[in-house]
Amino acid sequence: MGMSVTISAATEQDAEQIFRLQYLCFQSEAALYGNYRIDPLVQTLDSVREEIAGDCVYVARLGDEVVGTVRGRVTEDGAASIGKLCVHPRLQGHGIGARLLRAAEAALAGERGAKRFRLHTGHRSESNLRLYRRVGYETVGTAQGADGVPMIVLEKAAGAYATTA
Ligand SMILES: CC(C)(COP(=O)(O)OP(=O)(O)OC[C@H]1O[C@@H](n2cnc3c(N)ncnc32)[C@H](O)[C@@H]1OP(=O)(O)O)[C@@H](O)C(=O)NCCC(=O)NCCS
Repeated sequence: MGMSVTISAATEQDAEQIFRLQYLCFQSEAALYGNYRIDPLVQTLDSVREEIAGDCVYVARLGDEVVGTVRGRVTEDGAASIGKLCVHPRLQGHGIGARLLRAAEAALAGERGAKRFRLHTGHRSESNLRLYRRVGYETVGTAQGADGVPMIVLEKAAGAYATTA
């Protein structure tokens, strides 16, 4: 459809756009759980800036506009925790979410040596679960978010990325 969306590492200039985009995108999740205190809605702009400086943060751009984002970081057990994947509501369903996820996985395995990828989503977020399962994630457990929303934890081995990086 001629829509040229590019994926690249976020820079500090992207912080405000990421901050506003996630606030917009996670309204649907907040409504689904009747909880407007979920992590992506209460995160501060400074905290977004810190993540860009230290973590693996990718953005999808359409022209100058940030239309999608994802973050990841390697944790103590060697697994990379991936989170806050979101795409502008007007551009969802075109594969941008899957592309962002792939970019984060490749960087986390290649540059940062992640052996596994871990992510979580609210237990009622069916389309998120479908997306994650389609790209190879399997449920490994459940967790309770600080906001009280029951979460499903999913993991996938980094295998393919680790050997080609
Ligand atoms: C979750 C989210 C990031 C997915 O982003 P996205 O860009 O819509 O993701 P994709 O396009 O890769 O996949 C979404 C659907 O579009 C479909 N799709 C992908 N490419 C497509 C294409 N070219 N043509 C038609 N459909 C396509 C996928 O099959 C998928 O279908 P499904 O819902 O039946 O599984 C987005 O919906 C979002 O921001 N949600 C709100 C925030 C959120 O919940 N984030 C996840 C937190 S865990």
